[in-house]
Amino acid sequence: MLIPVTSFFRDKKYLTIYANNVFPAIIKNKVPGEITRIWVAGCSTGQEVYSFAICFKEFLGDNHERIQIFGTDLSEPAIAKARTGMYEKNEIENVSPERLKDNFIKINGDYQVSKSLRDMCVFAHHNFLKDPPFGKMDCISCRNVLIYMEPYLQKKALTTFIMP
Ligand SMILES: C[S@@+](CC[C@H](N)C(=O)[O-])C[C@H]1O[C@@H](n2cnc3c(N)ncnc32)[C@H](O)[C@@H]1O
Repeated sequence: MLIPVTSFFRDKKYLTIYANNVFPAIIKNKVPGEITRIWVAGCSTGQEVYSFAICFKEFLGDNHERIQIFGTDLSEPAIAKARTGMYEKNEIENVSPERLKDNFIKINGDYQVSKSLRDMCVFAHHNFLKDPPFGKMDCISCRNVLIYMEPYLQKKALTTFIMP
């Protein structure tokens, strides 16, 4: 269950569906100034969260500060790394040169996610099978996590996610 495999822009097809269909549907129902809240449950070391943040920023331009993305995981070391936003060269190989230039700063051979993107993202240690759920979310992503669970745990997780 603690398999931490992840990467930036993993499964591009899924992110394209978000950018073209899910983000516009969420934003359409927002009143001006209202915050959009996304929860990435089981975010490992943060790459999925920052990939969402980059796609949202590209979609919304200057209004991206109205987005809050909550990244949570069972693993404290994974969350600690996610908070730094710091990745080694081999970890950013799926990031296009243009996205790298716009969203990362090179520091001593590593790459740190820009402060404006990090400000959109909040990371917390959290077990969605045990801890109270985050409420009032516009969208919850729980990708490549439930596949490792027995059906009764998958059911428990889904019940948690649909709680108000
Ligand atoms: C394979 S990674 C997926 C990372 C990311 N979602 C992605 O698709 O790239 C699965 C992550 O789920 C986390 N996880 C497993 N069970 C969890 C639970 N009950 N609550 C929170 N995180 C959990 C693991 O610690 C691991 O980091």
